[in-house]
Amino acid sequence: MKPRIDVHLSREDLEAALRADVAAGLTAVPKEIPPKWFYDERGSQLFEEITRLPEYYLTRAERAILEERADYVAGFTRADTLVELGAGTSAKTRLLLKALQAVGCLRRFVPFDVSEPTLRRAAADISEEYPNVEVHAVVGDFEHHLHTIPGAGTRLFAFLGGTIGNLVPEARAGFLAALSAAMEPGDSLLLGTDLLKSVPRMVAAYDDSAGVTAEFNRNLLVVLDRELHADFEPEAFGHVARFEPQGEWIEMWLRADEAQVVVVDDLGLTVRFETAEAMRTEISAKFRRSGIEEELANAELALGRWWTDPGGDFGLSLSFRE
Ligand code: SAH
Ligand code: TRP
Repeated sequence: MKPRIDVHLSREDLEAALRADVAAGLTAVPKEIPPKWFYDERGSQLFEEITRLPEYYLTRAERAILEERADYVAGFTRADTLVELGAGTSAKTRLLLKALQAVGCLRRFVPFDVSEPTLRRAAADISEEYPNVEVHAVVGDFEHHLHTIPGAGTRLFAFLGGTIGNLVPEARAGFLAALSAAMEPGDSLLLGTDLLKSVPRMVAAYDDSAGVTAEFNRNLLVVLDRELHADFEPEAFGHVARFEPQGEWIEMWLRADEAQVVVVDDLGLTVRFETAEAMRTEISAKFRRSGIEEELANAELALGRWWTDPGGDFGLSLSFRE
């Protein structure tokens, strides 16, 4: 079956959203760009490389949990629809698809992502691998378009990779409330969250020795140059990753090596960077079980199961609409 692809973010919508985010972000103090703009084709490819880096333990740890628990999740939820938020290439999701298929209930897979090219490719691959599963991909922003996710049946929502940690706490609460509101009784949420651990290990995962994460971070400037006719010089910015103990999150910044002026033609905007002035490009929150349980409860989601990998690096929770 050919995949169906619903696009809730046209090229024009994306451009308008990017312009608004960049206009606000470059005039804020400190400057800040939201992380969803990392993922053009090159960005998605660099993220795939990140998942294979020795320092980036998250993907391996989450895969280890899924290998152990996917059968339980499938048997317990008996979902006929798997919805994956921020799906990317859905690499680990194959474990869930396989387990749901083995239980004999899987009918539909709904990968949801803001990055259309990556989503199209993954949808086509999965359609081929699972010819009996209807693949209904949705291009959208999970902070705005959750209501466009097809209903019907029993749905398992998967939000993997620790991507929820890329939202600041207020945005996270809003996201979980909206997700909970979009869920029907009987639907469930499988949520992957990175856990607090030694600071050097957390920082190294975002500042690898091969420099892939630095390139990923700078690729954001390449996106702005191309999409908004800006004249950022990516090489003039250094990659910075640090742990912020108050918020308990990793922050990534791009820091200007020297004072410079950047012109963003499409916005008619000229901005100045002082020497060593940094622009925040991402946070990645690190959690503890009690915090997750509380955040879920605030969104009327009851934690049912909680699993970690043997090293206790990463947490996977299964929760239900109360
Ligand atoms: N789930 C995969 C990929 C994680 S990378 C994994 O676990 O490895 C994060 C993914 O979320 C990217 O594919 C990115 O395009 C997507 N994403 C980021 N912000 C988003 C948003 N606001 N709405 C929808 N997708 C988003
Ligand atoms: N969700 C991933 C995380 O927080 C995304 C990610 C990994 C990322 N490495 C990154 C985002 C580097 C920006 C830069 O771990």
